[in-house]
Amino acid sequence: MSANNLQIAVLGAGNVGAEVIRLLQQNHSDLAARAGGNLVISKVLVRDLKIKRSAKVEFTNDANSILNDPKIDLVIELMGGIEPARTYIKQALSSGKSVVTANKALLAKHGAELFALADEKNVDLYYEAAVAGAIPILRPLRESLVGDHVTKIMGIVNGTTNYILTKMSETGEDFQSALHRAQELGFAEADPSADIDGKDAAAKAAILAGLAFHTRVTDEDVYCEGIAKISDVDIKVANALGLTIKLLAIAQVNANSKNLNHKSICVRVHPTLISQKHPLASVREAYNAVFVEAESAGQMMFYGKGAGGQPTASAVLGDVVAVARHRFSGGIGPKESDYADFKIEPISESQTRYLIRLNVADKPGVLAAVAQEFNKHQVSIQTVRQYGAGTNAELTIMTHLAKESDLSATVKDLAKLSVVDDVASVIRVEGEI
Ligand code: HSE
Repeated sequence: MSANNLQIAVLGAGNVGAEVIRLLQQNHSDLAARAGGNLVISKVLVRDLKIKRSAKVEFTNDANSILNDPKIDLVIELMGGIEPARTYIKQALSSGKSVVTANKALLAKHGAELFALADEKNVDLYYEAAVAGAIPILRPLRESLVGDHVTKIMGIVNGTTNYILTKMSETGEDFQSALHRAQELGFAEADPSADIDGKDAAAKAAILAGLAFHTRVTDEDVYCEGIAKISDVDIKVANALGLTIKLLAIAQVNANSKNLNHKSICVRVHPTLISQKHPLASVREAYNAVFVEAESAGQMMFYGKGAGGQPTASAVLGDVVAVARHRFSGGIGPKESDYADFKIEPISESQTRYLIRLNVADKPGVLAAVAQEFNKHQVSIQTVRQYGAGTNAELTIMTHLAKESDLSATVKDLAKLSVVDDVASVIRVEGEI
């Protein structure tokens, strides 16, 4: 690095990469004034050199010409996926380059080795864009809230599924056509199954939980259930009860952990019923929001655009300026912290409330038989409603707080009852309702 030039390489020139390059060039003088020196794009790695691109920068398809170039100070990785991104980032860090990435899947799987390498080489590894796009949430967790104890995070961190659920709820649109529209609008991943089955949100949940609880959390620690089973009847029932269904990424300190030394956390992604009055219920379409509860700060909500080239580029550039400031002043930012090392509970130990819909025979004794199964597994019922009659009767049962393993055992036994035609759905419930 020359005294006031930071040499940057960008890996990937897709939606986000192209926007990062455009903004680095268009806002050059503002960014230089804020960073304390010029941010210069040295090279951009692309797969196909034949594609015509408008940016006036040097494109290359040779990653080694970047990774082995000692003049390059900062690598911005925007390729996505595990390989070759992991190898390239390791090479960059090993040779003393700082890295900014938006790669949630990679960090959720291999964060530990990458953070350790960044520490060893005394360089920055920043990733604000990996969770909830433009919304500043990782830096607040890492820095602003580091003097507090975060107790719970509930996030809408996938725009595609939030868009689908919003359309199903507000216009009665069916799942497939809402998904198709989300794809046309460009929120969905190339393979939308990562959105629909919750895997995209699970990677983000792992990253959020790791920062909030100072504990290493990987995607494999996250219980994950997507939205494919949510039906129009679930949506109608939720609306009738003053509730709304959101795909939430939830990370919380176990409510039963009294002793700090034996605290555990649970990290899960699943469709969740919340009150229509909860702040997260007002997060519509492809917007994201992260609701945070901390011991002293209380409740906070971070809201904004969670996907798309421009919003994601905003978060990337924030990290780029932060890294540049450190490089120009000769330091690095706060390191990743995993000192707390909380135990991560299996989902079977988690506690929440549930709404269960059962198709049943409408005759005397049915309610008693159903209630008996709940009693058997010590799951306490809060309310029971019946919709329909005769052969079309449906019971909707809301429980009090119950342990997941007890609830699963109850559901298994309910399904075996002769008076229960079908367990139509089981959806978890969060917050005051
Ligand atoms: N497919 C993601 C979403 C993009 O729908 O939110 C951002 O990770």
